[in-house]
Amino acid sequence: MSSTAIITCKAAVAWGAGEALVIEEVEVDPPKPMEIRVKVISTALCRSDITQWESKAFPHLYPRIFGHEASGIVESVGEGVEEFKEGDHVLTLFIGECMKCKHCTSGKSNMCQVLGLERTGVMHSDKTTRFSLRGKPIYHYCAVSSFSEYTVVHSGCAVKINPAAPLEKICLLSCGVAAGLGAAWRVADISKGSTVVIFGLGTVGLSVAQGAKLRGASQIIGVDINPEKFEKGKAFGVTKFINPNDCNEPVQQIIKRITDGGADYTFECIGDPGMITTALQSCCDGWGLTVTLGVPKLKPEIVAHCALLLSGRTLTGSMLGGWKPKSDLPKLVDMYLNKEIQIDEYVTHDLPFTEINKAFDLMREGKSLRCVIHM
Ligand code: APR
Ligand code: ZN
Repeated sequence: MSSTAIITCKAAVAWGAGEALVIEEVEVDPPKPMEIRVKVISTALCRSDITQWESKAFPHLYPRIFGHEASGIVESVGEGVEEFKEGDHVLTLFIGECMKCKHCTSGKSNMCQVLGLERTGVMHSDKTTRFSLRGKPIYHYCAVSSFSEYTVVHSGCAVKINPAAPLEKICLLSCGVAAGLGAAWRVADISKGSTVVIFGLGTVGLSVAQGAKLRGASQIIGVDINPEKFEKGKAFGVTKFINPNDCNEPVQQIIKRITDGGADYTFECIGDPGMITTALQSCCDGWGLTVTLGVPKLKPEIVAHCALLLSGRTLTGSMLGGWKPKSDLPKLVDMYLNKEIQIDEYVTHDLPFTEINKAFDLMREGKSLRCVIHM
């Protein structure tokens, strides 16, 4: 059904960088051509929401509605949309898939040239916003903005999924869990018996661990400065923990010793470019592979001795684990329904929408993996 009505609903609005969100009554425009309006059912807080909200680099993009790891139900569709109808269950996509551009048709990449990561707080279609408050536009985040009861997304930035799946769990496949599994399976293609090191044991790192365990890795070493993450890590396959704060020699040195010269695969899941170097130093000569997943908070530059590469190591990275979201995420949802992958265990907290600021506190204090916010 195509809709022309504006919806007035509650949204958690950020008025400035690092300022607590305020639940406001906002107006959500109807979807424009090739867009859909989605009733958000569940949205989890991901570390990159916090990283962007804390950043002082974009003062012009406020007021803003954050949130990008979400599930929902299609409320209405804009002109020309044939792929979705009212009532469809969807995951939102912070990188879309137009299915037509050089990257979408390459079979090699999920970096869509048309619906790629949107950093300027507007819709891909016409570079304006679909939210307003007292006549003032509110900026989007990653073309998703799920911290709102309703949102408008491009039809290429959502994917239809099996309606049997519990929306309050599979929202994690919209970002964190999919990113980790994809890094392990698609990007690194971890082989049986190999050694794996994961820097940062949040949901992203522990999803790499799950992926590595399912591939039969012989050793999965987790590195984190928060000892509370260690117990949780075991459930996802982490076999050994290193807390750099408890060590009196560099972490890479310890890893080299216990993996006979370096691991086969290392993953940076923190968002600290210095750790990318450490990860590269921790993998082995010849075939060692470092995959970086973290979104850096401050300086994004990497510094590394070129001998690390001359000796045959590879450094790569991925967004959303390299998955082509439209084509691949429905399969992950089905794997969850078939009990082939775990998701529930990452949900450490559930909160009503009105308490969304608590989710920010819990993650900043290192107390949560994922906090699911119920709209
Ligand atoms: N050394 C080791 N571990 C660290 C360090 C450090 N210097 N700094 C932080 N960590 C750990 C934290 O204790 C936490 O357990 O890294 C983990 C990061 O996990 P979360 O904050 O829960 O983040 P997550 O959602 O898993 O995302 C990880 O991937 O998608 C990106 O933006 C995201 O950069 C972030 C990264
Ligand atoms: Zn494309």
